[in-house]
Amino acid sequence: MSVKNLINSDKIPQHVAIIMDGNGRWAKTKGNNRIFGHQNGVNAVRDTVEAASEIGVKYLTLYAFSTENWNRPKLEINALMQLLMKAIREETPRLIKNNVRILSIGDLDSLPSRVKSSLERAKADTAHCNGLSLVLALSYSGRWEIANAAKQIAKLVANNLLNADDIDEKTIGKYLNTSNMPDPELIIRTSGEYRISNFLLWQIAYSEFYFLSKFWPDFAKEDFFEAIYNYQQRERRFGKISEQVNQIDK
Ligand code: FPP
Repeated sequence: MSVKNLINSDKIPQHVAIIMDGNGRWAKTKGNNRIFGHQNGVNAVRDTVEAASEIGVKYLTLYAFSTENWNRPKLEINALMQLLMKAIREETPRLIKNNVRILSIGDLDSLPSRVKSSLERAKADTAHCNGLSLVLALSYSGRWEIANAAKQIAKLVANNLLNADDIDEKTIGKYLNTSNMPDPELIIRTSGEYRISNFLLWQIAYSEFYFLSKFWPDFAKEDFFEAIYNYQQRERRFGKISEQVNQIDK
């Protein structure tokens, strides 16, 4: 029996974010090069998008390329950019068919122009879709995003458009790339690493974490459902005590 049948449809997280890790190590176990791992990672992306759509997740954010990934060997960066562009172009018709909208977070201006334009095109072509929003984190890091928000807010203050005393958490949230999205309730990371790697640093304040040892190319729909089921067994207290959380409002 699939664990999907055990999932409570009234408690589906609105936003799930994934650190897709282990492509390189997966390829090594197969005696192949790292690019082969990334290529197979695309299949896991396809399955995960389908799984998230099936159960009604509203936002799925995938950490596809971090700010720090620019420090990888040039050959790998070029292959990853090529692969991203190809995947975005080839998958768009299927995404439209499944009512999936593409969004992105990150410093898109730092991407090669052909990657940026494929992405912009895919976003425009899926803009009418109102099922799952697939958020690609590209040239993204949490610290970059927060610094970027600080810069924009500082400019408003300098131009007397905002009073520094009025800056609160909402103000910061408004200038993040994720301003129109709910914070992720659940973060998944594959490959047995227990790190956040500069991902969604502001937004994960109260996220639940799910780690598994599988490498990303082996991540299957059933693993996604397992993560959701596991999340649903947890008690989220947001700093309160258990009795308060379980109290039924009259
Ligand atoms: C991490 O594995 C993976 C990446 C940095 C790239 C993820 C990209 C894809 C799965 C390709 C396509 C994505 C989309 C959204 C179409 P790693 O290289 O860090 O592996 P390692 O830790 O074993 O070295």
